[in-house]
Amino acid sequence: MKQYLIKGPNKGVRGTIECDGSKNSCLPLLASSILFEDSIVLTNVPLVKDVLTMCNLLEELGAKVEISEKNKTIKITNKKKHKLVVPYKLISTMRAGALLMGALLGKYPKNKIFCAASGGCSLGARPTNFHIAGFKSLGAKYNLKNGYTILSAKNGLIGNTYKFPKVSVTGTCNLIMASVFAKKTTTILNASREPEVLDLISFLNNSSNSKFIKFTGKRTLQIRGIKKLIRGSHKVIGDRIAAFSYLCVGVITRGKIKVNNINPKHLPKELEVLKRMGCEIKTSNSSITVNAKKKLKPVSFKTNPWPEFATDNQPILMAVLTTVDGKSKIEENVFSQRFQAAPELNRLGASISIKRNTAIIVGQKKLYGAQCISSDLRSSFAIILGSIAAIGSSKVQRVYHNFRGYYQLPKKLKKLGINIKVIN
Ligand code: EPZ
Repeated sequence: MKQYLIKGPNKGVRGTIECDGSKNSCLPLLASSILFEDSIVLTNVPLVKDVLTMCNLLEELGAKVEISEKNKTIKITNKKKHKLVVPYKLISTMRAGALLMGALLGKYPKNKIFCAASGGCSLGARPTNFHIAGFKSLGAKYNLKNGYTILSAKNGLIGNTYKFPKVSVTGTCNLIMASVFAKKTTTILNASREPEVLDLISFLNNSSNSKFIKFTGKRTLQIRGIKKLIRGSHKVIGDRIAAFSYLCVGVITRGKIKVNNINPKHLPKELEVLKRMGCEIKTSNSSITVNAKKKLKPVSFKTNPWPEFATDNQPILMAVLTTVDGKSKIEENVFSQRFQAAPELNRLGASISIKRNTAIIVGQKKLYGAQCISSDLRSSFAIILGSIAAIGSSKVQRVYHNFRGYYQLPKKLKKLGINIKVIN
């Protein structure tokens, strides 16, 4: 199994990184291809493992998928009716496969849709109860049999009002896709406003030439059912989580990094927190530059749905804070187990203590290389950051988690002068 071998300490890293398209935007956009009669073309796609898995799922359902790595494009063509069974073998490796429920139900509401339940993951319980409750409010019947969610609406879907008990990103995307062809209007209350959700909305609106999906309140979303979607094309937004991860390579090494192909407005809280720590931030419409002073300040922050600090960026900043003199505090409010990087960073000599949803980090003068293991995508990046700053060699195991969301990471880091190798 592949590992990263990282030699540190890497100090004062400087350079520019071209940010890839957003994985978490690309996944619902790909799922939404099911709603179209003909074909869709996505550009600026990140060809990471999760995106390729979603492409395999679409192929399995009968779509034609053409990928150009050189042009970073994916074309999906729907020649025939989709198969209506989303198999366990693919969905079990990627939770975002649950997005196919909403798309298939939206397109084929009167048929029976079978979707293997995507289950929990290492971030804690990740149920789809809100998604199902949303589908039911549109008139769908739900059953669970042999591990498969079965959905159908004999008389078609009819618009209704559904309030998410807690903001859910894929839940909102799923309910939008289910509502596109529903009769009348659907109102989603307490909807997610994550940039990735807005990206899906703008793709669907532009593909129909009418603004049939719109926010009528801060978290109130209205979807006026339309007749059909034929074809569409869209440029995926830059990945705000990957962008923050790369900026933090600059911060942990007290260097200067510019990230291109990212809208700074997608990371308002993250940039504010970096400024509070004493980093100098410069932005343009599509780039962010961070210049980290030698002496940074500890900081307290909380995760919450956008526009607050993203839970995905939390472990990344946690890694940085292990090297910042003084006591920092993090409150995690989205997932129940989002501090998985902490014991691994402690292996490198960090001092992080966890109590319920709060982490206290006491910054250390030095970290020391060690053998570590990653347990999810973002904690893998946090461990990589710690290893970059640590004195000596670190081996990061289970980096397959990393391949799920960061495109050609070793190549990007090497270009910045970081000593990283992929070993078996
Ligand atoms: C998306 O997951 C992202 N994944 C996650 O990124 C991200 O961490 C998360 O949103 C929060 O921002 C994709 O976009 C593919 P949620 P999602 O539904 O949509 C609870 C990464 O590293 N909940 O917004 O699955 C849930 O348990 C990944 O790229 C229910 O209780 O997350 C959580 O506490 C990891 N019932 C909270 O809501 C439900 O039916 C928010 O989850 C749905 C959610």
